[in-house]
Amino acid sequence: MNRFRRLRKNETIRRLVGETRLSKDQLIQPFFVIEGRNRQETISSMPGIYRYSVDLLLKALEGYQKSGGRAGLFFGIPLSHKKNLKGTQAYSPDGIIQKAVFAIKKEFPDFFVITDVCLCGYMSHGHCGVVEKNRVDNDKTLSILGKIAVSHAQAGSDMVAPSDMMDLRVHYIRQELERNGFQDIPIMSYAAKYASSFYGPFRDALDSTPQFGDRKTYQMDYANRREALKEARQDLKEGADIILVKPALAYLDVISLLRDQTAAPIAAYSVSGEYAMIKAGARLKWINERDIVLETLTAIKRAGADLIITYHTGDVLQWL
Ligand code: PBG
Repeated sequence: MNRFRRLRKNETIRRLVGETRLSKDQLIQPFFVIEGRNRQETISSMPGIYRYSVDLLLKALEGYQKSGGRAGLFFGIPLSHKKNLKGTQAYSPDGIIQKAVFAIKKEFPDFFVITDVCLCGYMSHGHCGVVEKNRVDNDKTLSILGKIAVSHAQAGSDMVAPSDMMDLRVHYIRQELERNGFQDIPIMSYAAKYASSFYGPFRDALDSTPQFGDRKTYQMDYANRREALKEARQDLKEGADIILVKPALAYLDVISLLRDQTAAPIAAYSVSGEYAMIKAGARLKWINERDIVLETLTAIKRAGADLIITYHTGDVLQWL
């Protein structure tokens, strides 16, 4: 007789037969870096997350590593008067992210540094590419993305993560990395990045809301699932090493589809809006933060993700 409760009798047997396990090894915390010294700014829609100047970032990373954090995803925030129409600060050798990466690798050579390759935070209009005649020009953006990726690698980045959603950028970035002697730098490509309202708090953090229009001409339509497979296969063909799905929680079916249909490692980015919702609910004491976070992240894993990028990483490292 099949009685399923036999394997649910106590915690020990439940853990013995558990199919999915969260591991510290696969969690990645995003970090925001700003210019200046001794600065730690709060982000109102993301309680517990800060924008750090490089000196304080290093301090934060020390604590993060003590609790078992081994990898981080880094976003630079340039001074607002340095934003322009070509995003030049994104690939400047003394841009904020390049300085941060250099300092991190000097202090913590074994810490795994992943850098965001995109232009939205560096463009005066807030779009992820070069704007001409009120539209984002794909191919003119590629050469800048190539420069950004190479500048990150030169600063010491261990892996680049293009999040711009221009077509053919993985191919272009791969080619530029190879040409500059960085054939060993993996690319984690945002293969299925949806135009999503879940990015709201992040855009507050980066001050990167597009000043006209939206991102729907380059990010994916949330109604589409099969298209994610086309994007993922294309990125892998172009030379991506890891494919990423973003957001995560409302897109578990997409993660699962890519898990079934491709062999590459899959990263899931549980984005700012997902974090903000849980934080808000927890503050109101309407939900239990720890339990909801662990359940959510386990579900993302169960769907098929290998790596998980989440703003909860710092907390989860304490809980696991
Ligand atoms: C920029 C970028 C965004 C996020 C990561 N990289 C925002 C956007 O596309 O508007 C969102 C991350 C988050 O919400 O946590 N290309």
